[in-house]
Amino acid sequence: MASEKGLGDSVSLAMIQKINLAQKFIEFGDHWSPKVIGKVNSCAVKLVKIQGEFVWHHHEHEDEMFMVVKGEFTMKLRDGDISLKAGECIIIPAGVEHMPVAEKEVEVLLFEPDTTLNTGNITNEKTVEVLEHL
Ligand code: NI
Repeated sequence: MASEKGLGDSVSLAMIQKINLAQKFIEFGDHWSPKVIGKVNSCAVKLVKIQGEFVWHHHEHEDEMFMVVKGEFTMKLRDGDISLKAGECIIIPAGVEHMPVAEKEVEVLLFEPDTTLNTGNITNEKTVEVLEHL
């Protein structure tokens, strides 16, 4: 069909829908448990609510992007802290130790491979092995 030119064989226009982030964030309430909302090439787009202190960890092979949608948090790095607020993002390169800390609940969009484990090289009670899709 001419109107679908440019789209892959497996994609139809009906599959393309806008995503309302605020609406998606209403659908869950648990902290530190990323939800997959889409895929861009080899990366997943994930939403997560964070509050409190996470765990020091790194990801051996994967970069991670955190974009603050609502609220503010501090990304602790071994070299110092970086504060982030809504509209700001940070890319943590593979291998770099980091620990997010949020005083109040924060809504964050993550851009990273689907297989990236939230706690990286660490396994603890916050580790989520299988991610829910919204
Ligand atoms: Ni991480």
